Amino acid sequence: MLMLTHAVTTDVNLEFAADIREGLTKEQKELPSKYLYDEVGSRLFEVISVLPEYGLTRADERLLHRYASDIVARLPRRVAVAELGSGTGKKTRWILQSLCRRQKTSYYPIEISRTALAMCERELGDIDAISIVGFEREYLDGLLEVAARRQRGQHLLVLFLGSTIGNFERAAGVRFLREVRRILQPGDFLLLGTDLEKPIPQLIKAYDDALGVTAAFNMNLLHRVNHELGANFVLEQFEHMAKYNQQARSIEMHIRSNRKQTVTIPECGLTVQFAEGETIWTESSHKYSSTEVFQIAEAAGFSCRAQWIDHEWPFAESLLVAQ
Ligand code: TRP
Repeated sequence: MLMLTHAVTTDVNLEFAADIREGLTKEQKELPSKYLYDEVGSRLFEVISVLPEYGLTRADERLLHRYASDIVARLPRRVAVAELGSGTGKKTRWILQSLCRRQKTSYYPIEISRTALAMCERELGDIDAISIVGFEREYLDGLLEVAARRQRGQHLLVLFLGSTIGNFERAAGVRFLREVRRILQPGDFLLLGTDLEKPIPQLIKAYDDALGVTAAFNMNLLHRVNHELGANFVLEQFEHMAKYNQQARSIEMHIRSNRKQTVTIPECGLTVQFAEGETIWTESSHKYSSTEVFQIAEAAGFSCRAQWIDHEWPFAESLLVAQ
């Protein structure tokens, strides 16, 4: 047992080291954004989601709260719910409560962050007639496991909220939804959240807030590489940067080296040179138009049944059905 736990931990570290090595040896250096969500990162993201500048999570929650019964009314009778990247599960409560009023409902949160998954199970465990089985997995691996548990005549509702789709390049987003579609059956549903285009200064503030919480969230990646892979990044010599990419219609998050410097990462067997002003790209958040969602859906084998839009912070919730 102990051996197994040890082996698993080592594997995870090896994969982390390999991903970091790959990212930092590219022409445009990068660090994969999935590593933002360790315990500290997951908690910092919770704080981001209540910052006045970052309206995204609140818009998502408002729509789900306001329209939960509308959404549920459009679903087939027997439905189990899978969520890709549940986070703490807070915004999922309304839909689950609405479903559980009709019938006993299975909820399968799929989440790579163990911290978030534990918070989610605690947050939603009190709903009557719910059964929660969490999967600490990558999205598609988790969804395959959920699909394998499907009962005869049962449909799936997949939740992909918070505009995580926006963290894919546009074409990769469609490819990802196509993968999701392949795991589903015709008549299954996907509820997709997308952050909509808005004025650029407002976007910049949302990803570079006055208190520096987003900066801390982003910089935590370097902190993690120091702690877990023995690196010697001096955090004061790097800074958080958010910039709008006109062509991609995305906000890009970078970590910028404020001087020429060298960093060593022993566990990656790597020495990395930084020029002054050189950046590590950590994440992009693409913004959509509401009608663009219909096209993406079609391209991935879904059709859009209904869409709800928040006008306070332009954001769309789209209910897609697998064709
Ligand atoms: N992926 C989310 C988004 O695009 C979360 C996020 C908010 C984020 N701020 C960030 C990711 C800063 C990386 C860096 O909105």
